[in-house]
Amino acid sequence: MSRTGLILSFLVLFSACDRSKINEAKWKEAGAEAVLPFKKSLKQALVTGLEDGPVAAVSACRLEAPKLAEAQSLGAINVGRASGKLRNPGNAAKPWMQPLLAVYENDPERREPGVVLIDKHTVGYVEPIFMQPLCVTCHGAELAPDLQAKLKELYPDDHATGYAAGDFRGVFWAELPRQ
Ligand code: HEC
Repeated sequence: MSRTGLILSFLVLFSACDRSKINEAKWKEAGAEAVLPFKKSLKQALVTGLEDGPVAAVSACRLEAPKLAEAQSLGAINVGRASGKLRNPGNAAKPWMQPLLAVYENDPERREPGVVLIDKHTVGYVEPIFMQPLCVTCHGAELAPDLQAKLKELYPDDHATGYAAGDFRGVFWAELPRQ
């Protein structure tokens, strides 16, 4: 066998045995599907909450967001939100998300959904979240004084302000079982 042939057959053998490779397109689809109901119910809770004004909506969001994440974490699937600038420390990025979050934060050209193999049983999915005009009410640079007071009371270590519409805010994530 020629030298090139030998190298090629090694490569083929190697990739056939490489179980760390995942079908990215398939897992991106599964991830998007897993976070969709969470995204929808969260948005619904926000819009309903805002009907009573932003201060009331903050209380609704505080109670509803963790409950919705839990409710949508069906069986072996877990979903949630994470950010590098947190309002609720309970939304801190898990170790597997941190490198992906860092790419999104540092490179505006690379803000597509991503997947990663967490361990041999689990695939991680992340999807960037961007600020919409509606979000600026509670995450913008200038907040209404009563809203600011409420946020300070509930989240004394709030880092999630100063955003403008279009800014990268964080991620929706899902942990998906491989089988
Ligand atoms: C009514 C005020 C309000 C509005 C409007 C609002 N948020 Fe938030 N946001 C909050 C509160 C309160 C939390 C903390 C929730 C909790 O305790 O889990 C939060 C948490 C988050 C988090 C989780 C990470 C963290 O910092 O804890 C993300 C991501 C986020 N908001 C994005 C958005 C986006 C995107 C929008 C617009 C679609 C938006 N928010 C609109 C109040 C608001």
